[in-house]
Amino acid sequence: MSDAAADPSRRNWIAITCGAGAVGGVAVAVPFISTFTPSERAKAAGAPVTVDISAIKPGEKLTVEWRGKPVWIVRRTPEQLESLKKTESQVADPNSDRKTYPTPEYAKNQYRSIKPEVFVGVGICSHLGCSPSDRFAPGAQPSLPDDWQGGFLCPCHGSTFDLAGRVFKNKPAPDNLEVPPHMYLSDTVVMIGDDKKA
Ligand code: FES
Repeated sequence: MSDAAADPSRRNWIAITCGAGAVGGVAVAVPFISTFTPSERAKAAGAPVTVDISAIKPGEKLTVEWRGKPVWIVRRTPEQLESLKKTESQVADPNSDRKTYPTPEYAKNQYRSIKPEVFVGVGICSHLGCSPSDRFAPGAQPSLPDDWQGGFLCPCHGSTFDLAGRVFKNKPAPDNLEVPPHMYLSDTVVMIGDDKKA
């Protein structure tokens, strides 16, 4: 990312491709949208990014860029939402009370989202800034517990997050994944970077 200097608060994030073998067999499209209006300059200065999420199918994730950071939009399936009940007792901060990356009030719920099915989160590990990998397929697999419910694995030091971006207990990451300020402009259009009407 070349605009690191534009936002002093941002950490460098490192996209790590880690042995992305198709172990789970779940096909997840991961399009990456790198160009948006407003202009690159405005965006680097922190302008909100507007995203049409209508094409994201259940179980898929879209990554967009906001302030030089990857923001994930995941449309969770009913099963994935159900998995959050199971991980509730395994995560370090189930109610998003920690303050390192304060969770907006409207996302302080089990889903950490406005609409239960749509998770919007910054894809940067709260430990040292790596970008965690998708591990959406449940079940035993390398580097994950046998009762894995689906979520994200940070390959750098092994922090794991559930499908609401909640960090599991006893991991190096000190906090959940950040939920950026965002709001819906319509049923299918979300604005990232702003959460109040002008
Ligand atoms: S940067 Fe993610 S676990 Fe260290």
